[in-house]
Amino acid sequence: MRIVMGSDHAGFELKNHLAEHLRSQGHEVIDVGAHSTESVDYPTYGAKAARTVANGEADRAILVCGTGQGIGMAANKVPGVRCAIVSDPYSAKLSREHNDANSLAIGARVIGAGVAEDIVDIWTTTEFLGGRHGRRVTMLAELDSVEPGE
Ligand code: RB5
Repeated sequence: MRIVMGSDHAGFELKNHLAEHLRSQGHEVIDVGAHSTESVDYPTYGAKAARTVANGEADRAILVCGTGQGIGMAANKVPGVRCAIVSDPYSAKLSREHNDANSLAIGARVIGAGVAEDIVDIWTTTEFLGGRHGRRVTMLAELDSVEPGE
């Protein structure tokens, strides 16, 4: 799988750790930064990675900031992106089975590297179930073009 990874300074080390983990499993990792622990702004990297999924250059995005919240919110602003902000394995599984999440955000200040690896492993190997969930995901896509106030 082609996986784009992005982080801010708070997620930099965990991003790098997970990138190595994914490469060792044979995934292709595209790293859009951050490239150091120097303070940067999470919307920049969340949007950059999410656009890489939206334009088809990557299959999925995995994002890391301090909590996963900010970078996940940034990703969800990009049409076509469904980013799950996850800190437990059950939500990782269901975000794929029910929501067909194409992006995952995790918090480096929330969970340790071991749980993050478990989450990433589940998330990259769990298939979308389709069926009634497909209808709901289509409804999510329709919200991409809703004007404010509609
Ligand atoms: C950076 O201090 C922190 O705000 C950021 O990494 C993230 O947790 C935001 O949601």
